[in-house]
Amino acid sequence: MVLQLSYADAPRCTDLAQRVGWPREPAKWRLLLEMGRGFGTSSAGAGGALDSMVVLTAYDATCFVAMMVVDPDQQGRGLGRTLLEAALVDAPEPALLYATSAGEPLYRRLGFQPIDHVVKLEGVTPDVTAAALATARARGVRPADASDRDAILRADEAAFGGSRAALLSAILDLADRVVVDEQGGFAVRYHNGALTVIGPVVADDEDAAIALVDAAGEGLSGTWRLDAPVSSPLLAAHVRGLGLADLGTFPLMSRPAAPPPGDRRRYHAICLQAFG
Ligand SMILES: CC(C)(COP(=O)(O)OP(=O)(O)OC[C@H]1O[C@@H](n2cnc3c(N)ncnc32)[C@H](O)[C@@H]1OP(=O)(O)O)[C@@H](O)C(=O)NCCC(=O)NCCS
Repeated sequence: MVLQLSYADAPRCTDLAQRVGWPREPAKWRLLLEMGRGFGTSSAGAGGALDSMVVLTAYDATCFVAMMVVDPDQQGRGLGRTLLEAALVDAPEPALLYATSAGEPLYRRLGFQPIDHVVKLEGVTPDVTAAALATARARGVRPADASDRDAILRADEAAFGGSRAALLSAILDLADRVVVDEQGGFAVRYHNGALTVIGPVVADDEDAAIALVDAAGEGLSGTWRLDAPVSSPLLAAHVRGLGLADLGTFPLMSRPAAPPPGDRRRYHAICLQAFG
């Protein structure tokens, strides 16, 4: 029987995520289970440990599939396929997801096709120089204030390919730094558990994106992450120079196959793989 998961189920979702080696990410789970629809199975009965789970977040033009996990002791028996097929029955199309290498065969079996790729980059405390910050300021990059919010949501909608205003507003509420430029670009920095994420980053071009990321990284300490579409190689190279290392390239997959939504020329860092 497929269970509907709510925010009350976040602890057993994070427990299952940990069983496949994923970190505990309380902020992400709150957003996922409050904004999206969680599905799971449990042979331990109501409230017991989950054997499988997946979360679908519907935006106005797409639906993102995330956190697809089957307990390692139960993998390879069709549980992942059964759960995902059930979750997708009423899902808006296209359904999109970023796949791990473990998940890609399952998604292909269910009709998902790769349509783009992102590079996952992670490291510790960026070394943003005073010169880089001065360049960003000279380009008109500044901290955002409340009056920028509508423009940020509109810029994200155009670049991402549909409104996800509820999710992005919630992320803006928990962000510790948001910067904007004079061309309608922006970068968001927020905490996801022990990790700081910079994304989404929307900008006219890669130079503008680099200036926004530098400004967003000012004062950041600890582990941070940015996921750059392969169409933003200069930004990826720049953040490698700030100390981030490649943790792999992940396909963006779509069912049915379709061109990537939005304007990827302006979408330089995604929000998180779970959110698109
Ligand atoms: C990915 C995952 C959810 C798959 O769940 P699962 O229950 O083991 O998968 P299933 O047994 O339902 O397999 C589904 C289909 O994919 C195929 N498949 C699964 N893993 C495969 C692999 N490594 N190579 C080739 N085919 C594979 C199966 O043969 C099956 O096809 P079929 O139904 O036509 O026989 C599970 O391996 C997992 O939790 N991995 C760790 C977390 C992770 O990376 N999740 C994906 C995040 S994007």
